[in-house]
Amino acid sequence: MTIRKIVLMGNESLKGIAEPIADPTAPDVAALAQDMRETLKSIDANGLAAPQVEVPKRLVVYRVPAERIPKGAKMTPVPWTVMVNPVIEPQSDEKKPIWERCLSLPGMYGKVPRYTHIRFTFQTLEGTEETHEAKGYHAMLVQHECDHLDGYLYPLRMDDMSQFAFASEIDTDGEFFHYEPHEFYD
Ligand code: NI
Repeated sequence: MTIRKIVLMGNESLKGIAEPIADPTAPDVAALAQDMRETLKSIDANGLAAPQVEVPKRLVVYRVPAERIPKGAKMTPVPWTVMVNPVIEPQSDEKKPIWERCLSLPGMYGKVPRYTHIRFTFQTLEGTEETHEAKGYHAMLVQHECDHLDGYLYPLRMDDMSQFAFASEIDTDGEFFHYEPHEFYD
């Protein structure tokens, strides 16, 4: 088990298309997923894609802890989830802007239009296929992490760069995420 180094915007590892994982049950895939989870826990963060630790493979680890869900939001926590070769299918054309941040752009926030309702399919470390649906913040997080597999950092998804900011300069209420009142309450 190793805490991996997370590379920052500009690093070539964040620009490429990651390779599909041929065997999700291979021990090196499980070891990588475990390292990524430990890396996230060590910094109390929520999501990480393999290219961020300089491994060009289609692997994402994420969670949504209960304490990160704003009061009154109709969301449920998501336990640690390892996604091998994830594929996203939007369930409508609707997108809403949401504040995001990324471990590869420390100290920054950006407001990014994301699909509000997605279905996503992935393989588990046991080699089975799972399909889940997500809305709101959960849907954004999955889109954000899967974008890393195709070389997209969130600023590349933004349509209004005036909403790109240093966290120290905007009101985040001390939260990792910033919510607009109208978001994720329906
Ligand atoms: Ni990110």
